[in-house]
Amino acid sequence: MAVCFAKHGYKVVGIDTDQHLLAKLREGQPPFHEPNLQGYLADGLKNKNFTVTDDPSMNSMSDIAFITVGTPSQANGQIDLSYVVSASKMIGHSLRSARHYQLVVVKSTVAPGTARNVVKPVIDRESNKAYNLDYSVCSNPEFLREGRAIYDSENPDRIIIGSDDHAAIERLEKFYQTLYSNTMPTVIRTTFENAELTKYANNAFLATKVSFINCIASIAERIPHTDVNSIASAIGLDARIGPHFLNAGLGWGGSCLPKDLHSLLNLSENLGYRAELIAATDETNRQQAEKAVEFAKQALGALADKRVAILGLAFKPETDDMREAVSVRVINRMLGEGASVSVSDPLATENAKRIFGDRITYAANVDECIEGADCCILVTEWPEFKKLNGEAFVRKMRTPTVVDGRRLYDPKEFKKAGVKLFAVGVGPEGSESENR
Ligand code: UGA
Repeated sequence: MAVCFAKHGYKVVGIDTDQHLLAKLREGQPPFHEPNLQGYLADGLKNKNFTVTDDPSMNSMSDIAFITVGTPSQANGQIDLSYVVSASKMIGHSLRSARHYQLVVVKSTVAPGTARNVVKPVIDRESNKAYNLDYSVCSNPEFLREGRAIYDSENPDRIIIGSDDHAAIERLEKFYQTLYSNTMPTVIRTTFENAELTKYANNAFLATKVSFINCIASIAERIPHTDVNSIASAIGLDARIGPHFLNAGLGWGGSCLPKDLHSLLNLSENLGYRAELIAATDETNRQQAEKAVEFAKQALGALADKRVAILGLAFKPETDDMREAVSVRVINRMLGEGASVSVSDPLATENAKRIFGDRITYAANVDECIEGADCCILVTEWPEFKKLNGEAFVRKMRTPTVVDGRRLYDPKEFKKAGVKLFAVGVGPEGSESENR
């Protein structure tokens, strides 16, 4: 978001306490992989529209302060607000010396009530300034996807702005209008709490949609001549359902969907309501990852001393992020069963080394990964894995058994090539191409 604002001519200063992060950014090194980010960062640094600092007083010069700190999950699912509180304190403190109005925008994902009951009072106490006159607070949740962060920042579907100060909402809307001009999306002006709950509802709905199709996939696996891909494309044509987020697989991961779902569950339980649908969405997701182990056992029996190849470590393609990745659960289960594991991923290997150390083997490419393996599990749908045909597995594996955890491969082609294929959502004799 920061480098996109800088790209559009705004002077953006990023404030953080992490010296290592600041040093990397100053050198033009993004701390994670994101398409086009490096170029945007380089441009911002070069034309000095984007600078970074650990000096909190720099905040007092800006017109708008975005709070973008993390809100990690605690063991009970409740979010840890300590970073939001310290950022609010810092903003409040810096506002003491400010000579002009500042709009404070909460971008971080927070529980309903946080902007009103935490951010506002903390800034009020620390700044000694007048709300509405010297500063205001808006809640403005973020909906960008990892792997599409730059694109989504520049092309948002909608903008949600919540506040108790109408003038503040207008100011923020005006800022976005200048940024997006003729591609300005719909703006929803609402309360703090609606904006905050919208963010959770959005992610919970996406997770539920995926768990729903995964539930249909599990039913399809028990019915001959079925294929979840065919069912997903058919129901996706119903305008009320829509085609997105209907890709069946080993489940959803990442730093957002799991965390936000658990926060929503915790939140609703604290309010005296058990959100059964959300709990079932989560439980269905837990079962999906387990499916990889079940398929492998169906094919090989006991997994002790078997060689298992894992294609894909990142929680989804176009990122190196392995937070809450399905691959981590699958690998841990395989190691627990006594299997030896080799892995391949175009971007996430360095992150995997930090998690698994020397407990698994890191292959340089697909061929090296599947060489001599008894079973291969496709976990992340990277384009290079999608291209593989049955023959590629037969050539290299000891026993060509493939678990298609993202429903990428053509069951007929794989069968013909001599691969024993287990695919999420494909019934015993299933192939969508039967009637073509
Ligand atoms: C998600 C939301 O999509 C963003 O709108 C939101 O801003 C972000 O969380 C956040 O809260 O910060 P992201 O975590 O980047 O974005 O990932 P998604 O693209 O939503 O994918 C999440 C998981 O669902 C991945 O593991 C993906 O493989 C899985 N998925 C997605 C499926 O299994 N099937 C699908 O059809 C779609």
